[in-house]
Amino acid sequence: MDVQMLKIDKSFDDSGTRRTIFSRTSARFGSGSVCMIMGKSGVGKSSLLNLISGIDLPDKGEIRVGDRCINTMTDTDRTLFRRRHIGFIYQFFNLIPVLTVLENVTLIAELDRTPKKTCRNRAQALLEQVGLWDRRQDFPETLSGGEQQRVAIVRALVNDPDLVLADEPTGNLDQEAGRTIMEMISTLVRKQNKTLIMVTHSPDAAVWADQMFTVADRTLTPLKPMPSGQAHG
Ligand SMILES: Nc1ncnc2c1ncn2[C@@H]1O[C@H](COP(=O)(O)OP(=O)(O)OP(=O)(O)O)[C@@H](O)[C@H]1O
Ligand SMILES: [Mg+2]
Repeated sequence: MDVQMLKIDKSFDDSGTRRTIFSRTSARFGSGSVCMIMGKSGVGKSSLLNLISGIDLPDKGEIRVGDRCINTMTDTDRTLFRRRHIGFIYQFFNLIPVLTVLENVTLIAELDRTPKKTCRNRAQALLEQVGLWDRRQDFPETLSGGEQQRVAIVRALVNDPDLVLADEPTGNLDQEAGRTIMEMISTLVRKQNKTLIMVTHSPDAAVWADQMFTVADRTLTPLKPMPSGQAHG
């Protein structure tokens, strides 16, 4: 699904003063693309992901995910939309320690009334692809950081989301593990024609990007524009 930000304004109240993080910001993230967001600490990268997922709302403008406008839906619709169409990958993996690998991966999908069998089949296929099916009965703390992040990637994809949002997914991994993770996410995303929007501090990550943006001065600037084949896709 294409994601579009149209003339977004966003400010926060910072103990009495208004801090503007986006001002008339527009951007388009193409379907099937790996899109990287870079920028200094505090410029608003995580806030941007929150706006795209509808966890936070813009003061002005529109966020369109596919053909839906996420900021004008009711709260209930937005929650359901997010659960069905968006997967999340975090810097600190956020796996549930008392659940096994397989339980972690299938929990969210089962919340969404996906039949257990479907869910389990998808989980198996993805865990096999990332080389962790043999570890399905293990608990997260017995896995390495890179392995935990692979589990988190499977969890983000098991519901077959159209859009995957990742906030510094390699921030806690060494360079080698980071590379493995990037290769894995970008392959899965492209093969399944999903859109990945990923915040990263790693200059290395640019290699995997179809589109790249920097956040600075209350706006988003493309460094690597949408490939021309997709410009109208
Ligand atoms: N819910 C909120 N209420 C008030 N201020 C907020 C809120 N969320 C973010 N901010 C402020 O908005 C600015 C941008 O924060 P954000 O977390 O998006 O930065 P970031 O680019 O992700 O930084 P980092 O690279 O350190 O993770 C910060 O000044 C932050 O304090
Ligand atoms: Mg952040």
